[in-house]
Amino acid sequence: MPPVITDIEDLHRLYRRRVPRMFYDYCQSGSWTEQTYRENETDFDLIRLRQRVAVDMEGRSVRSKMIGREVAMPVALAPVGLTGMQHADGEILAAKAAEAMGVPFTLSTMSICSIEDVARNTTAPFWFQLYVMRDEDFIDRLIERAQAAGCDALVITLDLQIMGQRHKDLKNGLSAPPKLTPTSIANMMTKVQWGLGMAQTKRRFFGNIIGHAKGVEDASSLSSWTAEQFDPRLDWDKIRRLKEKWGGKVILKGILDAEDARMALAVGADAIVVSNHGGRQLDGALSSIRMLSEIVDAVGDQIEVHMDGGIRSGQDVLKAIAMGAKGTYIGRAFIYGLGAMGQAGVTRALEVIRRELDVTMALCGEKDIHNVGRHNLLVPRGFSGEWDPRGRDG
Ligand code: GLV
Repeated sequence: MPPVITDIEDLHRLYRRRVPRMFYDYCQSGSWTEQTYRENETDFDLIRLRQRVAVDMEGRSVRSKMIGREVAMPVALAPVGLTGMQHADGEILAAKAAEAMGVPFTLSTMSICSIEDVARNTTAPFWFQLYVMRDEDFIDRLIERAQAAGCDALVITLDLQIMGQRHKDLKNGLSAPPKLTPTSIANMMTKVQWGLGMAQTKRRFFGNIIGHAKGVEDASSLSSWTAEQFDPRLDWDKIRRLKEKWGGKVILKGILDAEDARMALAVGADAIVVSNHGGRQLDGALSSIRMLSEIVDAVGDQIEVHMDGGIRSGQDVLKAIAMGAKGTYIGRAFIYGLGAMGQAGVTRALEVIRRELDVTMALCGEKDIHNVGRHNLLVPRGFSGEWDPRGRDG
């Protein structure tokens, strides 16, 4: 009998059993002490919902729009590096599940399946996430490839020009494809389905990079190339130039400060993603949900504000929307589904979240996601704002 999946945690448990340790750990890490990674989740728990009764609940809708695109719910799949290592052809499968559900899929620069692989296997346009690298020719070509593939938004990640250290990845010797050591071989031998899938696909390298970037012909040179290539000189002028080159909708991801949100507005971005990269970059930064309302208050009437980080349920989505986000992203929550059950698992993750969102909305006394707002929440006093930005203790 197939397992009964009732929530995202069920998928997480299966995922943990089915995917090699190295890739499980990659997904389940934050940087250094993992404080921000943990608080992205636990801060959602601090916000409570207002129960309302005797409200007609028939004819509910969680349908909405993200940057003008109709979405079945305000939830997109976040760009996640190495998704095709969590399950063979993972990016293609996740993109198909997103398309069938009617939500956007975002392909990471550091994906295993290439832009062209995903485009060939889907019909709905997807979003392409760009890491800004030193090799400008390569970036120009990536942008052109995304244009040729019909991508309808460019998501530029701003918070990973230098990589935050995740201890487990160093200890595991993370690589794609995995390096064969006695430990990794012993672990992979227990992941039979995963191994069969990987044996049957040719997509085991960073598909957007291998054969496209100069001097990167094999995987062994890739990790050092990545460390060398991410461009630490990225600034707002460069973002402006990239936006011009792209010529379409631009989403700036990794904004966690109201001043940066104003800069994003000034360069003419279509949306920002309030994000700390899933707690994988600046450990000690505040959680995304804590920062959200300040940023919404600063720019929310002039630019679409999205958020990611810590969303593991439809209740979390509802809280983020009620705090003022126009869209949310799930990363780990869909990776659990993918590693657990392939495309069906991603579909299940999306179904679980949509149902939770719908029922939670109803129990809050709302019929339309557009009417959800701060009046639906009980937010503890001082939740987002008792911090002095100049580091004084008052
Ligand atoms: C890359 O985006 C990572 O967080 O590992």
